[in-house]
Amino acid sequence: MGIVKQNFGKIPDGTPVDLYTLANTQGLTVKITNYGATVVSLEVPDRDGNPGDVTLGYDSLEDYISGPCYFGCIAGRYANRIGGGRFRLNDTEYILAQNDGQNHLHGGIQGFDKAVWQAREIENDDGLGLNLSYLSRDGEEGYPGNLSVTVVYTATDKNELRIEFNAAADKPTIVNLTHHSYFNLAGAGAGDTLGHELMINADRFTPVDRTLIPTGELKSVKGTPLDFTRPTVIGARLDSGDEQLQIAGGYDHNWVLNKDAAGPCLAARAFERDSGRTLEVYTTQPGLQFYSGNFMENQIAAKAGQIYNHRGGFCLETQHFPDSPNRPEFPSTVLDPGSTYEHTTIYKFATE
Ligand code: BGC
Repeated sequence: MGIVKQNFGKIPDGTPVDLYTLANTQGLTVKITNYGATVVSLEVPDRDGNPGDVTLGYDSLEDYISGPCYFGCIAGRYANRIGGGRFRLNDTEYILAQNDGQNHLHGGIQGFDKAVWQAREIENDDGLGLNLSYLSRDGEEGYPGNLSVTVVYTATDKNELRIEFNAAADKPTIVNLTHHSYFNLAGAGAGDTLGHELMINADRFTPVDRTLIPTGELKSVKGTPLDFTRPTVIGARLDSGDEQLQIAGGYDHNWVLNKDAAGPCLAARAFERDSGRTLEVYTTQPGLQFYSGNFMENQIAAKAGQIYNHRGGFCLETQHFPDSPNRPEFPSTVLDPGSTYEHTTIYKFATE
């Protein structure tokens, strides 16, 4: 079984973009475009063996270029928010785009989700893969230093989508990369995801201010609707009146992951009863942003004639904590020349 490569159109400057299809031997098929290193679809079997596409996306490149949701992309150079769109590093202040109110979000106006990456097909012992690389130039979107980034997607024979992130810089800079698929384990387009059960392996989260920037506190989830230490239906506590949920219009928070090993640890597990599909997320990252699709509009025209409504998908974004460049007490997102940024995240599918 090889990788199939198809034309996926051209961006406005004429650069061609491709769509790669990777299948494993167990019924997992993933389509990835080198525009934004974006997962366009991901099919996995339900408990009866029927395949279903469980990630949200579009059919056309034009929709990815204009769409506001960051469906399936790699967000960077700094995924998530930086307060006020500015940070200091080694006594220099860097000014970034304020593309989310006064804050910086997902790398700015032309983030990594809007870049055309170089693609190389690979095959290793675990399965077929796609090696995507991108050189983010010194000064791009206001960030210091040339940053060379590699993201390797592998469709493993254990029904995992494994993502290996790598980056190196020639000047001190900051980096925080995440994968931004929206999942609906009942199948993309099959209504909202409020009935999914979710477990997040975290005893603490980072509460946010009214603009979704962490206050700096690492707060216990105990007694709050952010406690997902036991599997809980996503929609069960959305209307609890909790201030954090009101600020974000639902869940849009970073959890401080419990870590019990150096390698990828279990961060979250989702389960959808009708299909029987489960999704486990493992990562080496310290944080997980669980976003319940609160800013999704109703009636988004999407791939294969699907219509997505409010909360039609949720994201489990493994990453460093939001606004870390302005929070010396958080795990550092600084990358110095000579060091390598290396992370692994695994999305593992099964049924029960
Ligand atoms: C953020 C949301 C944001 C969304 C954009 C998520 O990663 O947490 O606040 O609206 O991305 O698609």
